[in-house]
Amino acid sequence: MLEVISISEVLSTNSNPKTKIHIEVIGSHLSDELLTNAVIGLRISLVNIGAFKTNGNRFEEPQISLIIDKSQESIANKALSIAEAQVSAMHLVDTPSNIKTPEYMADYAVASGKKYGYKVDVYDKKALTEMKMDALLAVGQGSCHEPRLIVMEYNPKGKKSTNPKLGLVGKGISFDTGGISIKPSANMGYMKSDMGGAAAVIGAVELAARLKLDIHIVGVVPAAENSVDANSIRPGDVISSYSGKSIEVIDTDAEGRLVLADGLAYIIRNYQPENLIDLATLTGSVIAALGYTASGMFTHNDEMAASLTSVGAPINERVWRMPMWEDYAPDMHSDIADIKNLSSRPVAGSITAAKFLEVFTAEHKNWVHLDIAGVAFADSEFAKSRTATAFGVRLLGAYMETMV
Ligand code: BES
Ligand code: ZN
Ligand code: ZN
Repeated sequence: MLEVISISEVLSTNSNPKTKIHIEVIGSHLSDELLTNAVIGLRISLVNIGAFKTNGNRFEEPQISLIIDKSQESIANKALSIAEAQVSAMHLVDTPSNIKTPEYMADYAVASGKKYGYKVDVYDKKALTEMKMDALLAVGQGSCHEPRLIVMEYNPKGKKSTNPKLGLVGKGISFDTGGISIKPSANMGYMKSDMGGAAAVIGAVELAARLKLDIHIVGVVPAAENSVDANSIRPGDVISSYSGKSIEVIDTDAEGRLVLADGLAYIIRNYQPENLIDLATLTGSVIAALGYTASGMFTHNDEMAASLTSVGAPINERVWRMPMWEDYAPDMHSDIADIKNLSSRPVAGSITAAKFLEVFTAEHKNWVHLDIAGVAFADSEFAKSRTATAFGVRLLGAYMETMV
C-alpha cells in the first residue's frame, strides 16, 4: 500500500504502521515533476509479479508512507491515479493468455467502468456478425475464445458533446500464435503481450475517469485470439471488413492490422472523434527500425505529432515519427481484393502496415498510429523475463491534459 500524507498530518497524528514493513519516504523537498515520478515509482514497486506462485498471496506488501508538503497533495494524488491506471494496464498485459481471453478483457473494462464511472458496451460474436465486423471475426474464428468488441465512453458530467474530442483504438490480440502462418516457437510466449495497445486504451480511459478530466473520450478495443485451428483463416483467403472493403490475407500473422481496420472504421463511422489515436504491438519491423527505445509514430498531422513528441519525451514514453509517403501504398495493392494485408516486398514493414491502416481511416485528418511493439513489454532489472510497461497510459494521460 502506498499512502500520501502531508507533514502537518504526520505531526498531528502518530503514524501507526499496519504492516510489519513500514517505510516512510520524505518527499517534501521534491519538485512537482520529481514528486510525480517518486509516487509512480513507489506505487509500481509494489506490484507483485509472482501472483501465480503457490505462496503468491502470502506476499507481504510493505506500507510506504510518502510524506509531503500540504501544498503538493493534489500533485501527489494525481500521480497516484496515473500509477494505479498503469498498474491496471500492467496487470492485463502480464496475465497469461489462458486466463486473459477476449471475454476476460471485456469483463475487466466493464468492472473498471462501473468503479470509475464510464460506460462500457461489449459486443459478442453474435452481435459482431450482425454488425458485419468481418475482419475481427476472421482473426478470431480459429479460437475457442470468441472475439469481443469493447467500447468504452467517458463523458464528463454536464458535457453535452456528441462527438468525442478523442477516440482511442487498441489492438487486443489476447495471444498471437501467428495463425496458420505460425510463428517460430522461441519466445512465442511473449505474444501474450499482443494486447498492449488494448491495455493502454483501457488504462487511459480509466485514467481520464479517475482524474475526472473534462474531456469526452471513446476507447475501442477489438479483441480476439489468433489461433491455429481447422477453422482458422488461411493465407490466400479473401475476407470482408466493417468498412465494406475486401482484404486478401497474405499472411495470417499480420492479424493486428485486420482487427484494427474494423476498430478504426467502427469508431469513425459511429463516433466521428475529433482526434484519433490507435496503439498496437503491430510489427517486428518497428523494433528493427527503433529498437526497444521508442514507439513508431505514423501521422499526417504535424500538430498532433509535435504534441505527442513533447509530452512523451520527459516521461520516457517516446514516440518517433516515421514517414507515410504515398510511395509505400502500392506495396499493399492486391490483384484480387481491395487491399492485401502484407507487402510484397520485405522492406519498411512498419510503414506498409501503417499504409494498410490508413485505408480504413476515411482520410481522417487527425489520426495518429503508434506502433508500440518494442515498448509495451520489456526487459527490466526487476524480473528475469520481460514484463509489462503500461506504455501509453501516462503518454495518453499527458496528451489528454493538453486537450482540455
Ligand atoms: N504481434 C506481432 C508483432 C510483434 C512482434 C509484436 C514482436 C511484439 C513483438 C504481429 O502480429 C506480427 O506478427 N507481425 C508480423 C507481421 C508480418 C507477418 C508481416 C511481424 O512483424 O513479423
Ligand atoms: Zn501476428
Ligand atoms: Zn500480433
